[in-house]
Amino acid sequence: MRKKIVAGNWKMNKNYNDGLSLFSEVLNMVKDEVRGEQIVVVCAPYIHLNSLSALAKDAKQVFVGAQNAHQEAAGAYTGEISSEMLSSVGVRYVILGHSERRQYFGENNALLAKKTDAVLQNNLKPIFCIGETLEERESGKYFEVIKSQIEEGVFHLSADDFSKLVLAYEPVWAIGTGVTASSEQAQEIHAFIRTEIAKKYGSDVAENTTILYGGSCNPKNAAELFAQKDIDGGLIGGASLKSRDFVDIVKTFN
Ligand code: G3P
Repeated sequence: MRKKIVAGNWKMNKNYNDGLSLFSEVLNMVKDEVRGEQIVVVCAPYIHLNSLSALAKDAKQVFVGAQNAHQEAAGAYTGEISSEMLSSVGVRYVILGHSERRQYFGENNALLAKKTDAVLQNNLKPIFCIGETLEERESGKYFEVIKSQIEEGVFHLSADDFSKLVLAYEPVWAIGTGVTASSEQAQEIHAFIRTEIAKKYGSDVAENTTILYGGSCNPKNAAELFAQKDIDGGLIGGASLKSRDFVDIVKTFN
């Protein structure tokens, strides 16, 4: 069954106390709003994960996520965090391949394939990000770029493992810019992604894969985006830092 997911990506925001306050507000506001197959994920900086997991333990359909994980199980990787460590503090989802990590930290599809394996091996769910830059959009290369990101990043997986992950289409030119992809643009890419999945793994796997949209999604545009046939929710940046805005996006599915 294709899950409807609204996931918040706090990025590098919120000190310890501010993060606790924000998450507590979201939990209180969202507990009566999540229905059916819908779930809410909050992907916070590492310092928050243990305490947020403790707060979320009785909240059905609300889960805690991380924004990255190292590809190795353990070892001399100063400053890094492993998937097993994340699992040990109650994390369930891990964002991988966010465009900011591709841009600022040189993460490529080959590395992200290894990170995906490590996350899955620890029974966590990758939220695997793909998306084209403005230059790739304007040059018309975006289908080719997105195809290679999924082929090189996640198409090495077995159908069973692929079925455990979530994809997030985030056009880089829409991230943090206030310039959201139109619902038609987003639907076109989501449908393309789903078609590529069907070619690789068959229609059942394709139909049951959750594909999120990310890139300046907010309470005003979420309803039109989420109404699209192949858009199964959102990966929310800026709007996830305000409890009212984030929960209004969650309520969009109701
Ligand atoms: O991962 C979600 C993020 O990249 C989107 O950011 O601020 O455009 O919602 P924002």
